[in-house]
Amino acid sequence: MIVAIDGPSGTGKSSTSKAVAAQLGLSYLDTGAQYRAITWWMVHNGIDLTDPGAIADAAGKPGIVSGTDPLAPTITVDGADVSGPIRTTEVTSKVSAVSAVPEVRTRITELQRWIAESAEKGIVVEGRDIGTTVLPDADLKIFLTASPEARAARRSGELKGADVKATQEALIKRDAADSSRKTSPLAKADDAVEVDTTELTLQQVIECVVTLVEEKR
Ligand code: C5P
Repeated sequence: MIVAIDGPSGTGKSSTSKAVAAQLGLSYLDTGAQYRAITWWMVHNGIDLTDPGAIADAAGKPGIVSGTDPLAPTITVDGADVSGPIRTTEVTSKVSAVSAVPEVRTRITELQRWIAESAEKGIVVEGRDIGTTVLPDADLKIFLTASPEARAARRSGELKGADVKATQEALIKRDAADSSRKTSPLAKADDAVEVDTTELTLQQVIECVVTLVEEKR
C-alpha cells in the first residue's frame, strides 16, 4: 500500500501523514525534510545558492538518510542528526531555490523511490510531487488544500506566535516558487482526491484519510 499525500505548506500534511501511517502500521517519509537537509548542507558548506550550476555540482555530495518510523522520523546528513537545523527560517527561505534545480530533484527522487520500494509494510509519502512524479502508480493519492489564511494561522501557531501576516507572505512566496518551477512543480495529480482542510480539525482530516486508505485496502 503506497499512499501519496501532496499539497502546499500549512495544510496539515505532516501531522496527517504521520498519524495515518502510525494508525495503519505503515512507514512514513517526509520528502520536504530531504530537500531541507540538502539545503542545510549547502548553506553549511558555503554553496552559492544564487547559482543553479553550483547547486547542481553539489547535489550528489551530501549523504542523506531518512528514518521512516512515523512515531520517530529522523533525518541525517553525513551521519549527523539535522532534524532541528533544517527547520530554521534560513533553510525555509532558501529551500525552494535548491529544490528547483533538476539535478537535486533527480537525486532526491531516486532516493524516495528506493525508500518506497523497500517499505515492506507499505508507506505514506508526503510532499509536493509524489502523486505526479515520484510515485505515479501510488495506490491512493491525496491532495490537501486550505485557504491561505488558515495555512498561515496554523504555521504561525507551530512557530509559537510568529506574526501571522509575515508568515502568510513567506508561505505564499514559497508556494508560488514551488508551483512555478519547471521540474516537477507542486501540483495535484489528475487522479488525486482533493481534501479542503480549511474548516476541518486535524482529527477530522486524519479520519478522512484513514477511511480513504481503508477503502483501497
Ligand atoms: O514540506 P516542507 O515545507 O518541509 O518542504 C520544504 C520544501 O521542500 C518545499 O517548499 C519545496 O521547495 C521542497 N519540496 C519539493 N518537493 C517535495 C517536497 C518538498 O520540492 N516533494
